[in-house]
Amino acid sequence: EKGTYPHYMLKEIDEQPLVMRRIIEKYRNENGELSIDSHIIESVNDADRIYIIAAGTSYHAGLVGKQFMENWAKIPVEVHIASEFSYNMPLLSEKPLFVFISQSGETADSRAVLVQVKQKGYKALTITNVPGSTLSREADYTLLLHAGPEIAVASTKAYTAQLAVLAILAAVTAQGKDLSLQFDLTKELGIVANTMEVLCGQKEEMEKIAREYLITTRNCFFIGRSVDYYVGLEGALKLKEISYIQAEGFAGGELKHGTIALIEDGTPIIALATQEHVNLGIRGNVKEVVARGANPCIISMKGLEEEGDRFIIPALHEALSPLASVIPLQLISYYAALHRGCDVDKPRNLAKSVTVE
Ligand code: M6R
Repeated sequence: EKGTYPHYMLKEIDEQPLVMRRIIEKYRNENGELSIDSHIIESVNDADRIYIIAAGTSYHAGLVGKQFMENWAKIPVEVHIASEFSYNMPLLSEKPLFVFISQSGETADSRAVLVQVKQKGYKALTITNVPGSTLSREADYTLLLHAGPEIAVASTKAYTAQLAVLAILAAVTAQGKDLSLQFDLTKELGIVANTMEVLCGQKEEMEKIAREYLITTRNCFFIGRSVDYYVGLEGALKLKEISYIQAEGFAGGELKHGTIALIEDGTPIIALATQEHVNLGIRGNVKEVVARGANPCIISMKGLEEEGDRFIIPALHEALSPLASVIPLQLISYYAALHRGCDVDKPRNLAKSVTVE
């Protein structure tokens, strides 16, 4: 039930801190350490390469998950769009493990791949919000998101839950391989939950940003580098699906290879700057688009902020920044859609579970 909320989407955005805390609890063992079923960890360790298969928002979560897995657990990961993978299967490694990320567990494009890989005798793990869903039943293993039912078509709390579960999977795998992380993930996820709470308390500011940049625009671009690029892809998907504004996410460095031609006077550009190693680069990109007349909205992280940034996210572990930086983007999309008179929870032409290929 949505209770006092006007829309499920807003309720689900607000539930993210609670979901984060629930995930920490669900993935803790009796000693208080993060833990995952040993069969799953064995299968991950056994694999020479992980193939993440997903669609839409879950695909965007996979892109960030690849970073966790490669940086922390040192296992190579490829992330594929399910619909492409089923007829464009790449040359597989010798011992692949397939990881299906799907909020609903019912996405037909992902299921088509699962059927193919099972026929080939490969192992599959499904990360889903719905116990007993098709992808969960047909895979060898399941990790649950524990996000509670997500009703709004636009996925919000499932995305951050997917990131948290992927981070835990990577960290537990790393531990099992004696690759010690330089931080305590439980503690850092706790900080993420607190930060999410702060961000969810900034709705007025987000509404102001939506009004300022998105009320009449025909298009909007999201730019970022490294994981900020992936979060930008997710921000763009959110905005386009519920507000019908043509929105695209681009890698900052890629702008000059074509997209910059689209910048006109007043074009809104939402730029993410949460990553120290690419801060200089993304700041340069903002200057390039501003010189062509763009109207920039810079969302940065405390410690990396510069004068003129529109919104600053409290500092948190850099690798986990997508769990927080996506929240302003979710809220900005929500208010943009609301003020443009769109049906926020049930956007046109879309279904919550896409059960056709
Ligand atoms: O249930 P799934 O995670 O497999 O769904 C995949 C996509 O259909 C889904 O993420 C879609 O892109 C959302 N509407 C995005 O908000």
